[in-house]
Amino acid sequence: MYKIAVAGTGYVGLVAGVCFAEIGHQVTCVDLDERKLELMKSGVSPIYEADLEELMQKNYSAGRIDYTTDYKSAYKNADAIFIGVGTPEQHDGSANLSYIATVARQIAETVEKDCLVVVKSTVPVGTNDKVEQFIQDFLLHDVKIEVASNPEFLAQGSAVHDTLHAERVVIGTESEWAEEQLTKIYEPFHIPIVSVNRRSAEMIKYASNDFLALKISYMNDIANLCELVGADIQDVARGMSFDQRIGSKFLNAGIGYGGSCFPKDTKALEYIAKQNHYELKTVKAAIDVNKEQKTLLYKKACRRLITFNGLKVAVLGLTFKPGTDDLREAASLENVPLLIEQGANIYAYDPVGAKNFAKIHPEGENGNGTITYVSDIEQALAGANVCFIFTEWGEVKAVTPELYKRLMRTPLVYDGRNIYGVEDMQVAGVEYHSVGRRP
Ligand code: UGA
Repeated sequence: MYKIAVAGTGYVGLVAGVCFAEIGHQVTCVDLDERKLELMKSGVSPIYEADLEELMQKNYSAGRIDYTTDYKSAYKNADAIFIGVGTPEQHDGSANLSYIATVARQIAETVEKDCLVVVKSTVPVGTNDKVEQFIQDFLLHDVKIEVASNPEFLAQGSAVHDTLHAERVVIGTESEWAEEQLTKIYEPFHIPIVSVNRRSAEMIKYASNDFLALKISYMNDIANLCELVGADIQDVARGMSFDQRIGSKFLNAGIGYGGSCFPKDTKALEYIAKQNHYELKTVKAAIDVNKEQKTLLYKKACRRLITFNGLKVAVLGLTFKPGTDDLREAASLENVPLLIEQGANIYAYDPVGAKNFAKIHPEGENGNGTITYVSDIEQALAGANVCFIFTEWGEVKAVTPELYKRLMRTPLVYDGRNIYGVEDMQVAGVEYHSVGRRP
């Protein structure tokens, strides 16, 4: 079993660390935030993620995982150091690599034995070469350091499951030694390993995410056309899905993709292409469609209503997808300010994301409108003039068409997740607008 240090305890770092501990490695997670580390030691996860706390508690009690700010002792004798810090988007769409650089420098100044440095964070192609050179330049002791790329494919909301039962592990190495080390680390997972060179591994990550983003934007584009020609996107998607070359996943049209990955990684790849004097037309199209899609329902509602001023607007779902409290690039963040600007009185429901949303839009008066956070969907719907559905939480899906009819003042629903059958809503007497289906 390997002695592993993990830099960064966000989604990527923490989940990787916990899963490495779960399969028997000895793991130390490093972060700067003392308070967060104390919480983690007491078994509390800083992120909302299914199964994570349970595995944190189990492996901490078993002594297989620890959390520290003391990077020196964590890195000094590690067999492998995984870097899982953030690479946030900058204004021009490029990735900010300053966190990676800080960790690389710390590693160079502390390691005292041969060590494999593994970059899990999503980084522009060629970054791992630079990280290796950077570490060599600052290395204090006479030890062998190699950098490998090992991109992460987990999705928020199912991160632990995606890691323990991944469809593939991609490793990008430049030597047999590095390939052997990483292969051994991953052996206990019994997952197919795709071994390539470092730059290909870096590209696999972007190409995979951008392909999925493209798939969603393509379906959204087709959905918009379906509305114009009288077809139904869900039937179209079902008909497409039986073709195994297309597959059944990521065919759901809606209000566009959000989250910390697709929006960032599409822009980053477009930027990388530009840097290389190449125009990545397909990815650019995906970005453009997604931008339009986010406010599609709001625009539809604007055409239907004279004003939102003074109307009670129920908002169901705030996060970018169910199973997470993450709001990054969520459609709600674009639409709620537009509604507020128009003087709407918003009643927002989200089973876990409301607290984070309230940090951005505090309860009470907000510009021309107001926001009230409710813990019960019925409270949001009671007497509402219009309802927007932004996230397909189980709790939202459980609301019957009859309930909208019974509770709302005017049963007018804009569904960004195509939760309901068009006819079911019609039968219940609800005026229902969704994406890519007839109203
Ligand atoms: C995504 C990828 O799915 C992961 O494989 C990848 O590791 C991760 O990014 C990352 O780079 O870290 P994530 O952003 O957590 O994962 O979530 P997804 O489930 O992929 O959903 C992203 C967005 O696409 C959500 O807003 C979701 O609602 C939307 N989506 C997804 C659709 O609009 N339609 C679909 O059919 C599927």
